[in-house]
Amino acid sequence: MADQIDGDLYRKVLGRYPTGVTLVTGCPDGEPAAIVIGSFVSVSMDPPLVGFLVGEDSSTWPRIESTGSFCVNVLSDQQSGLSNAFFRRDGDPWAETGWEPAPSGSPLIPACLASIDCSIHEVVDAGDHVFVMGLIEHLSHVGEGSPLVFLGGRYGSFTEFG
Ligand SMILES: Cc1cc2nc3c(=O)[nH]c(=O)nc-3n(C[C@H](O)[C@H](O)[C@H](O)COP(=O)(O)O)c2cc1C
Repeated sequence: MADQIDGDLYRKVLGRYPTGVTLVTGCPDGEPAAIVIGSFVSVSMDPPLVGFLVGEDSSTWPRIESTGSFCVNVLSDQQSGLSNAFFRRDGDPWAETGWEPAPSGSPLIPACLASIDCSIHEVVDAGDHVFVMGLIEHLSHVGEGSPLVFLGGRYGSFTEFG
């Protein structure tokens, strides 16, 4: 029964499923802003849509949402430090992070593996999160390497069989 699902068990079971790690960025009031997001997913090719889930209590998302756009920057397995810097926010992580405005104005981080610049297509309530869908306006593949992987609260990298 849905109302009997234990929170610890939910985290333990769902924590067995890996995700990549992205920085979803925006530039509200001319200031760069970012959220570390693992729930990024490709949604549709025609029209070109991507999406992610963000907690309804996020303080950063409403600021990015107010700009009408966002940019998804895909982290490489060399960038767990960047993820931690933006997650922990000791000091100003942007002081150490090179970026340039994507066509939407949202920060594009050239050191990342890929950047996906979007206008906000739809925001749908999803329990204690909202599901944000973006219409892709501009794509750039800016780096070589393997993606950062997040599993059970730990970072790792992709290993190919054989
Ligand atoms: C690897 C990793 C993945 C994360 N993925 C998500 C996610 O998909 N959705 C989300 O709402 N928060 C996610 N978080 C937590 C957010 O980065 C952030 O700490 C939290 O939403 C607070 O946001 P705020 O600064 O906007 O209040 C993740 C954190 C880490 C370290």
